[in-house]
Amino acid sequence: MKYVIGIDLGTSAVKTILVNQNGEVCAEVSKSYPLIQEKAGYSEQNPEDWVQQTIHALAELVSKSGVQAGDIEGISYSGQMHGLVLLDQEQRVLRNAILWNDTRTTPQCIKMTEEFGEQLLAATKNRVLEGFTLPKILWVKEHEPEIFEKTAVFLLPKDYVRFRMTGAIHSEFSDAAGTLLLHVTRKEWDRDICRRFGISADICPPLVESHDCVGTLLPGIAAETGLSENTKVFAGGADNACGAIGAGILSSGKTLCSIGTSGVILSYEEDKERDFKGKVHFFNHGKEDAFYTMGVTLAAGYSLSWFKETFAPNETFDQLLQGVESVPIGANGLLFTPYLVGERTPHADSVIRGSFIGMDGAHKREHFVRAVMEGITFSLHESINLFREEGKSVDTVISIGGGAKNETWIQMQADIFNAKVMKLESEQGPAMGAAMLAAFGSGWFGSLEECAEQFIREASTFYPKEQNVEKYQTLFDLYKKVYTQTKDLNAGLKSFRKN
Ligand code: XUL
Repeated sequence: MKYVIGIDLGTSAVKTILVNQNGEVCAEVSKSYPLIQEKAGYSEQNPEDWVQQTIHALAELVSKSGVQAGDIEGISYSGQMHGLVLLDQEQRVLRNAILWNDTRTTPQCIKMTEEFGEQLLAATKNRVLEGFTLPKILWVKEHEPEIFEKTAVFLLPKDYVRFRMTGAIHSEFSDAAGTLLLHVTRKEWDRDICRRFGISADICPPLVESHDCVGTLLPGIAAETGLSENTKVFAGGADNACGAIGAGILSSGKTLCSIGTSGVILSYEEDKERDFKGKVHFFNHGKEDAFYTMGVTLAAGYSLSWFKETFAPNETFDQLLQGVESVPIGANGLLFTPYLVGERTPHADSVIRGSFIGMDGAHKREHFVRAVMEGITFSLHESINLFREEGKSVDTVISIGGGAKNETWIQMQADIFNAKVMKLESEQGPAMGAAMLAAFGSGWFGSLEECAEQFIREASTFYPKEQNVEKYQTLFDLYKKVYTQTKDLNAGLKSFRKN
């Protein structure tokens, strides 16, 4: 039997899986690393932590599986999008990586939008947002000019880890699409944008396809992990693109709901000329010459993990979620908005913060937990609404990540989205998409679709229940008002946040 490895470089941990030719997961190891949040709105990580934890995870994966290194044919990657890693001439890291959920770049975004917003939207098919990479580069240029001067190349998170494992510098289209520097439909770095913002196009890494082989493992890495120096390394894709591949979102009409730290609603898009006017993201897929549109809730899984860490630090998620199925829809009049780190879709707003509305002396912890789950799902529903308003039909949703681990939550998604929601067998999220890119790249299959047929199996389907759908519609109308009615309050509170 032959094997491939999928590596997903997440925001809280790196997950590695070993997958055989039948698509079965034979071993899995995750290792976490910290977030560095020095000021309100800042979110950084040390790229060295990613590298070391990935090496540790791979070493454990190989030894635990008992598989011969020579039988592992390929490795590929998935990773948190948009994060900025800057390297100097000697390929040394110049500062901590600034992550996708860092919101310090509001002033840069305002200026970019005022001066060049329309042209940026036309070329990149996305509006300017704090999370994207170009505003981060401009922040460094303005606030840390000595670092900007020394920059020889920028990389995205998983591309940096792959560089450390192979010695080769590349980016690929699905992650490059999230930088605001890629001409998305022409699939090339946009030199006009670079020129306009005083950035040398030389700092943009060479581009390849997600399934392209970019080299083999460096001898030192092979020795540390127990892998073979001959193992082929494939470029990989953005975590959302890989989540989509791993869930079989490879043709029109398929929608993904993925709840990780962030949450996304993603829909395959065939028509590259289709114009969503920046209301939702429009990115290159990890499948060659394909695209997807996507709405993002910044604090999806993060809202629930924040709640757990703050109010039930010693419990597991299963313990925390015990009893939510008996709490009625609407949590006895409690609404939550998940704006813990600001929001992206449909409100691109770095200042807004979350709320619990309707707290009552009779509410117990389980009401708060249910309200958090409902609030996250309402926020994702705003993206589904945007798709529907633009004429896309959303009747079947494949749910992956945290939201697919709890049946009450999947039924909640079906009722709130008013769509059929499907759960997969042995769902592995973006790591499986990465493994599939390695399997396809290694020549095991003629296409990603063929690979999906072999690797992905649906486990169960949840249907919307009419009376629940109605109740949720009423609640959703109230939920939508919370944003507008708390916007000014949060602007007033901003100066009291930790700086
Ligand atoms: C997508 C985004 C997040 C990260 C999280 O635009 O910012 O989903 O990719 O990993």
